[in-house]
Amino acid sequence: MADETITIIDNRTGERSDIPIVNGGIDATSWRKALPDVLFTDPALMSTAACESSVTYLDGGEGILRYRGYPIEQLAEHSTYLEVAYLLLHGELPTAEQNEVWIHDITYHTFIHENVRKRFLEGFHYDAHPMGMLVSAVAALSTFYLDAKDIHDPGSRMKQIVRLIAKMPTLAAAAHRFSVGMPFVYPDNSLSFPANFLSMMWKVAEPRFSTHPVLVRALDVLFILHADHEQNCSTTAMRTVGSAHADPYSACAAAAAALYGPRHGGANEAVIKMLNEIGSLDNVDDYIAGVKQGKGRLQGFGHRVYKSYDPRATIIKHVADQVFAVTGKNPLLDIALKLEEVALSDDYFISRRLYPNVDFYSGLIYQAMGFPIEMFPVLFAIPRTAGWMAHWVELLEQDAKIVRPRQLYVGHDKRDYVPVDQRS
Ligand code: CMC
Repeated sequence: MADETITIIDNRTGERSDIPIVNGGIDATSWRKALPDVLFTDPALMSTAACESSVTYLDGGEGILRYRGYPIEQLAEHSTYLEVAYLLLHGELPTAEQNEVWIHDITYHTFIHENVRKRFLEGFHYDAHPMGMLVSAVAALSTFYLDAKDIHDPGSRMKQIVRLIAKMPTLAAAAHRFSVGMPFVYPDNSLSFPANFLSMMWKVAEPRFSTHPVLVRALDVLFILHADHEQNCSTTAMRTVGSAHADPYSACAAAAAALYGPRHGGANEAVIKMLNEIGSLDNVDDYIAGVKQGKGRLQGFGHRVYKSYDPRATIIKHVADQVFAVTGKNPLLDIALKLEEVALSDDYFISRRLYPNVDFYSGLIYQAMGFPIEMFPVLFAIPRTAGWMAHWVELLEQDAKIVRPRQLYVGHDKRDYVPVDQRS
C-alpha cells in the first residue's frame, strides 16, 4: 500500500518532513510541528476541513447530497422533516415506536413562554424584519431555560434540542403575525409539524385551520431539503460559538445570524427581488449582460461546493410544479425559467460552473404559498435547526477544541504613541 504521507522539503533549510494524510486530509498539527513558523492561509476555509463529521455527505462535483448515508432524493420522496431531524440527530432512522415518541415530544414542546411573545417579540418596532426577530428570540430562549448550560449532560442536551426544533415554527409565525398586526395563534397539537406551522401563520377566525395537503407536503419536502448541508457558513458559525461551550440557544442564534446574510439563507429573498427588478421577459438579456459586466450577481446561482448541479434545486423544481398546480403559477416563474435558460447557455456561467442553487426556485414556491419575502430566510432557519443541533452534539461528543484560527499579521511594526497635539 502506498505511504499515506506527504513529504515537504523546506527549501530554506533543506529539512524534510513526512506529514500524515488522515481521512484524505493533511494533518495540520503535524505540519505545524514540522514547520512551526509557516501557517496555512485559507481565509474563507475553502481548502480546510475544520472537523471530522458523519452527519452529511456532499460531493459538489457529482451533485450528491446524503444525510447519514441516505440520498436526499429518497428522503424527499419518502420521509418527513421530523423523521429526517431524528435521523440527523441520532444517526439512524427511527423505528415506528421511536418515531411516535419523537413526534409526541416535539408536538408537546411547541408552546413558547408567554413572556417571550408578550414582552419580547411584541417589544420590537412594528416593521422589524422577522429574521432579525427570530435571531434575537432564539438567543433570548437561553435566559428562559437555565438548564441549557448543562451542555455535557446528554439528557439536558436533547431536551434543549427538542425545545429548539419545536419552538422555531412558533417563534417564526409569531414574528410574522406581529409584523402584520395579526393576533398570535397558539400551536395546534392535533396537526402535523408543517400543518401546525401553516395554521400559526394563516389561521384567522375559523375553529380549525385546514389547507391543501399538497401545500403541507411541499413545505415538509422543503424542510427536508434545508435540514442540513454540512459545513456551510451558518453551521460553521454554530460550531465556532459551540466550541466555546456556549449554550445551544446562543449557538443557534449565531448560526441563524449567519443564515440571515444574502450570500447564504437570504438568497431566496434576493432572488424574488431580482426577478421583480427584471420585471419582464424582454429585460432578461440585458440583465444577464449587466451581471457579466460585474453589475451584481445572478441571485440563486452558483455555489461554493456544487460545481455541476445542486440536487436540491432539481427536487425543488418538481415541488414547484405541484404547488403551482394548486396555487396557480407564480407570475415570476417565466422570468426565472428564461433567466435559467439564458444563463445555462452562456459561456460566462458555463466556464465558472454556475448553476441554479436551492434558493433559485424555493422563493417562488414560498411566494406562491403566500409567504412574504421577509419570511424566506426564516423558512430556511426552521428546518436547518435540526442540522445545526446535530453538528452541535457531534462537536461536543468529539470534545472539540475551541475554534481559534491564527492570522498573518500585515499591520504596522512597533511604533511609539503620539500625543494628540503632535499628530498631523
Ligand atoms: N452571478 C454571477 N457571477 C457569479 C455568481 C453569480 N451568482 N456567483 C459567482 N460568480 C462568479 C464570480 O464573480 C467569480 O467570477 P470571476 O472568477 O470572474 O471573478 C466566480 O464566479 C467565482 O465566484 P466566487 O465568489 O469566488 O464563488 P464563491 O464560491 O466564493 O461564492 C456564492 C459562492 C454562493 C457566495 C456565489 O456563487 C454567490 O454569491 N451566489 C449568489 C448568492 C446565492 O445564490 N447564494 C445562495 C447559496 S446556496 C444556499 C446556501 O447553501 O446558503
